[in-house]
Amino acid sequence: MTTTPNSPAEADSTAPADPTRRRVMKTAGVAGTVAVIGGSVAATSACSSDEEAEPTKDSSLPASDVPVGSGTVIEDTYVITQPKEGEFFAFSSVCTHQGCQVTRITEEAIVCPCHSSNFSVTTGEVISGPAEEPLPKYDVSESGGTLTVKGQ
Ligand code: FES
Repeated sequence: MTTTPNSPAEADSTAPADPTRRRVMKTAGVAGTVAVIGGSVAATSACSSDEEAEPTKDSSLPASDVPVGSGTVIEDTYVITQPKEGEFFAFSSVCTHQGCQVTRITEEAIVCPCHSSNFSVTTGEVISGPAEEPLPKYDVSESGGTLTVKGQ
């Protein structure tokens, strides 16, 4: 005895292709999420891809542009901190969580606005996530009142 579906609904519930269709829907859901994230990138320019996370060029700025007990972001590439007078540190300004630009520097932390990851102003290490990786660190030198960050 063979069974024959009486309606399209019954045919769907017993069809061997059902898991495939679920997989397609799952994939479409992921693609939709990516599209939304992509739209956010285009709208805010706050995030970037991993390829952009490794700056290769040198950058310079007046040391006076970096406040003591804080820092500044230059060229959407580097964040320069000055926790103490004359003590400078440079990191990538691209958050290691999902690629947003860090925008705020306090006495203790470089803060990402997207999901509030906090990074050390002296080492770039994660103080609090969701980021798990530190901000890449770069050499910074001062000469004649000008800071130069060495790209890789
Ligand atoms: S992108 Fe920075 S915390 Fe998520």
